[in-house]
Amino acid sequence: MKLFLVGINGKMGKMIASVVENTEGVSIAGGLDLMGGGAYPVFAEAKDVNVEFDCIIDFSRPSTLDAVIELAETKNVPVVIATTGYSVEQLKKIDALSQKVAVFRSANMSLGVNVVESVLPTLASALKGFDIELIEAHHNQKADAPSGTAKQMLTALEKGLEESPDYVYGREGDCKRKPSEIGVHAVRGGTIIGEHTVIFAGDDEIIEIKHTALSRKIFAVGSVKAAGFLIGKSAGMYDMSDYLGR
Ligand SMILES: NC(=O)c1ccc[n+]([C@@H]2O[C@H](COP(=O)([O-])OP(=O)(O)OC[C@H]3O[C@@H](n4cnc5c(N)ncnc54)[C@H](O)[C@@H]3O)[C@@H](O)[C@H]2O)c1
Repeated sequence: MKLFLVGINGKMGKMIASVVENTEGVSIAGGLDLMGGGAYPVFAEAKDVNVEFDCIIDFSRPSTLDAVIELAETKNVPVVIATTGYSVEQLKKIDALSQKVAVFRSANMSLGVNVVESVLPTLASALKGFDIELIEAHHNQKADAPSGTAKQMLTALEKGLEESPDYVYGREGDCKRKPSEIGVHAVRGGTIIGEHTVIFAGDDEIIEIKHTALSRKIFAVGSVKAAGFLIGKSAGMYDMSDYLGR
């Protein structure tokens, strides 16, 4: 399997390269990035890409989306989209792309977070009357907030709730909590790779579900597995629940 990495010289691109070096049967044909250099051919624009590959993996910025779409369409290959922070219009473009090629999109490629997401609807439904809060923490270079993973977790929680919650992003001043609220809090600092805690606070008892990423390797391994899963699939939108067979 030959991969093309969008964002090849970023933190995740470099981590995928190191994972692939130790994975039999997988290689990197090149990548797209604003920053050149490294062991593989790096292109600044989609139209210049002159290498062949079986799947694109994108860990970059929402601003590369048009280039990713151009590449996937012209090369007719599937694409794993791991970048976060897309606008509603961009998400529609990704949906449109999935009519033409297979697209795998997940804001979190780790097994652990996806298993947590699978139990959140059950907990939200069973713990009726509990106040729910979500705290996420990331490094000081992260561009978007709340994290894409936090948004995925909120979507999972909503599945277990009878009514749509009111989201409150941080609190300040006169802001007594309403029962319908879910508070969402983004911490940014240092080199934190990624922490997500969902708190269910009831009368005299608290349940916390916490996932901590100790290394970017979990996202890199997950994205390479997603690429393997996607090759040969028909056009459509896929995510971790398809991969995990849920
Ligand atoms: N889905 C997941 O599991 C997961 C895990 C970690 C990070 N992410 C997301 O992946 C993305 C990248 O994360 P990172 O930590 O590697 O970031 P990073 O800033 O280290 O790397 C991004 C790379 O993209 C390149 N880039 C930016 N704009 C570009 C453009 N217009 N054209 C070409 N290249 C461009 C940059 O030069 C850089 O090398 C972020 O959106 C992050 O939230 C997702």
